[in-house]
Amino acid sequence: MSGEVRTCVDRLERSSSSEETTMTISVSTATAAIPGAIPIGAGAELEARSNGSDSDTSGSDSSGSDSSGSDSSGSDSSGRDDGSEDGPAAAGSSHPRVERRLGADSRLGVDGRRAASGVSVRPSLERFDATEMTLDQFHASDDDDVFGKCRDFQRWVGSMREQELYQRFYRLTLTGPLDSRMMVIDDIHRVEREFVCFDSNSYLGLHLHPRVLDAVESVTRKVGYGTPSAQLLSGTNRYLRELELALAEFHGRQDAIVFPTGFAANVGTIRALVRNRDVVVRDHFAHASIHEGCKTSGAGFVKVFSHNDPASLDQVLRRAEKAGCRGKLVVTDGVFSMHGRVAPLPGLVEVCRARGARLMVDDAHGVGVLGPSGGGVEELFGVQGSVDLLMGTLSKALGSLGGYVCGSTDLIDYLRWFAPSGVFTTTLPAPICAGAKVALDIIRSEPEHRTRLWDNIRLLTDGLRSAGFAVPAPESPIITLLIGRQALLWKVSRELFDAGIKCGNVIYPAVSKSACILRLTVNSRHTADDIDYAVDVLGRIGRRHGLVSCSHELAGVGA
Ligand SMILES: Cc1ncc(COP(=O)(O)O)c(C=O)c1O
Repeated sequence: MSGEVRTCVDRLERSSSSEETTMTISVSTATAAIPGAIPIGAGAELEARSNGSDSDTSGSDSSGSDSSGSDSSGSDSSGRDDGSEDGPAAAGSSHPRVERRLGADSRLGVDGRRAASGVSVRPSLERFDATEMTLDQFHASDDDDVFGKCRDFQRWVGSMREQELYQRFYRLTLTGPLDSRMMVIDDIHRVEREFVCFDSNSYLGLHLHPRVLDAVESVTRKVGYGTPSAQLLSGTNRYLRELELALAEFHGRQDAIVFPTGFAANVGTIRALVRNRDVVVRDHFAHASIHEGCKTSGAGFVKVFSHNDPASLDQVLRRAEKAGCRGKLVVTDGVFSMHGRVAPLPGLVEVCRARGARLMVDDAHGVGVLGPSGGGVEELFGVQGSVDLLMGTLSKALGSLGGYVCGSTDLIDYLRWFAPSGVFTTTLPAPICAGAKVALDIIRSEPEHRTRLWDNIRLLTDGLRSAGFAVPAPESPIITLLIGRQALLWKVSRELFDAGIKCGNVIYPAVSKSACILRLTVNSRHTADDIDYAVDVLGRIGRRHGLVSCSHELAGVGA
């Protein structure tokens, strides 16, 4: 398995797309060009629309093929002769529909319309193609003004806006819940419209569960919406303590500490535990918060082992021992956030035990999802309690915000005093703690959400396979389509946006420069219709750009 992983990583690092020509899709500002869109008219009011009805309330057609003849995919200036069948908006299954219209606050969506004029930049950056530039190039500024790099970067933002790319991909403004279908301000066409969303980490939809909402509401009424003090001072409300105990019990540990975010949990925990004489070793693909934790930890030896490869970990630890390190901390994701594959936990545990290292596992994406009762990666492998330090978040299946670490009482009490991102910060608000505790209970008491989630994961995987993508057997709700170069990712994502599908457009540094991905996250609230629509559109776009032909590379991702 590890050999295959290495091969795959190599492929990812080396892969590049031959597709480099710039394709311009002309965008009609006519409302009728967008399936189910309603214009954002100045002074218009938020207006409820009939929900779930098949009849088209927006003035655009209900079949998915725009009868107006001004379909943006059909009237593009690329010279593509796909006028109908192949355009994303012409997909057969039901396309997103608009539920409400917005208008009163014309500043919504303003982010996408800000001009980038009057910005002075380094001469070397005056002429460039923003779609080709990667983010690392902006750190290279030698300007003595520390704001110099911000001006340079603004040039990139401006160029991306001029090409109407930035507005499609970043800081899309939602006007309702982040759900399997969601209302979004489309700042290009000046409409508010519905998207099918594959870009939420709320895998079980618990951020919208009535029992969770009741708990949040009732505790808000009782104690207010915040608990603005540090945990060690007056920030330990009973709801925080109840959540800590519930988390510890859920994972079969003695105690737990809750941090304001998962990012803070990783950074603070690693920082608290390692010293100058110690080694900290992380998986090559570990989450950014683990990178950051290792980088700022103060460890004398900061090392990386090959992705999902216990033998490589063993080698790295042996070398660190020879170099004179004392304490050893190994850190990995349980489920890798970019490609959704699971870490080989039993092998890592074995190596850590043999080498006297402590193992920390970030199970942000495993909790609530993996294992018969949602216990996470340990439960999946039947090795409960084998991880020395188990980290999780409240921001994925639990549907909110916050991070936590579970372990022995002595470990947790130490972290309460020595993890800076837990000590020198405000505690998580009591209503969130109360909601998260109920969500944790639902993970166990209502397994139907997890059953639906896995049904949906299989439905999407099977659909993508029948559309021609060689998707590997799913291991989590994260399904990744390898696109390659950034410029091609933007072409593809642009078409997805126009078809009303939102997924993650992941570029460097989250992935390597030649391995940009579309990241789709499935949840229990997706309907078969949502999934059919996504498969239909992705299949058409994939065929148009030859993506299915690079699918053999995808088949190897993390497998
Ligand atoms: C694996 C992993 N760890 C940690 C985090 C950080 O969690 P949070 O968003 O709660 O700060 C994330 C979130 O993106 C993640 O994917």
